[in-house]
Formats: sequence, structure tokens, C-alpha cells
Amino acid sequence: MKKHLLFAAAFSFSVAAVPAAKTIQLPPDGAQLKASPLPGYVKAQGNCVACHSAEYMLYQPPTAARPYWDAMVKRMKAVFKAPIDDADMPEIVDYLVKTYGNEQGK
Ligand code: HEC
Repeated sequence: MKKHLLFAAAFSFSVAAVPAAKTIQLPPDGAQLKASPLPGYVKAQGNCVACHSAEYMLYQPPTAARPYWDAMVKRMKAVFKAPIDDADMPEIVDYLVKTYGNEQGK
């Protein structure tokens, strides 16, 4: 009798797990970097979304100024070992501050 109950419990668990495994999560808006004609846009696509989604940029304060973004890009390289070329940093920072920071619309 005890064995039978255990089997029933295991069976109902596996049935419940099937629909969850099939659930497809679509990326939310913001998972892609905002398009821009700035040269830093392409460089940010190549350097900034390998480890996390572009949504992370949206969580930064829109009042964040150029030095904030500069420090952010440097932190990604220094702390998380992001393979960002130093020569690309100014353009990436320029794109970020004009797209997500306090130079939007400038
Ligand atoms: C090598 C992996 C990697 C790359 C490449 C990378 N990041 Fe990150 N980034 C991280 C990690 C790890 C975190 C912290 C994750 C967490 O807290 O969940 C993070 C967090 C962030 C955050 C959230 C704020 C914070 O301080 O935690 C922002 C904004 C961000 N990254 C921007 C960028 C930008 C801009 C670039 C491109 C210049 C970039 N990341 C490239 C690994 C990376």
C-alpha cells in the first residue's frame, strides 16, 4: 500500500512538470539595444550583450552622465573580464550616454 502511494505521487509530479518545460519565454522589450546611427551602437552590440541582455541598460538612471557610463564600461572589463577593446570604449560610452543616459536627444 505504501509503495503504491509513492508511485502515485511521483506520477502526478511528472505530469505537472511537462507543461512547465514547454513554456517558451519571449524576450521582453528592451532585450535588444536601441538602434542608433552612432558608431558605438554596432560596437555595443558586439561588446555589451554577450553576458546579459540589453535590458540592463534600461535599469540605469536616465540622468546618468558620461563619467557614469565610462565607469560602467571600464567596470565590465576590469571586474567581469569583458573583452572590450580600449579603443572602442569612447564610442560605446558615447552611444550609451546618448541612448540611455542624460544626453538623450542631444
Ligand atoms: C564578460 C561578461 C560581460 C560583458 C561582455 C558585459 N557585461 Fe555588463 N555585466 C556583467 C555582469 C556579470 C554584471 C552583473 C550581473 C548582475 O549583477 O546580475 C553586469 C552588469 C551590468 C549592468 C548593470 C549594472 C551593474 O552595475 O551591475 C550594466 C548597466 C552593464 N552590465 C552594462 C554593460 C555594458 C555597457 C557592456 C559593454 C561595454 C557590458 N555590460 C558588457 C558582465 C558583462
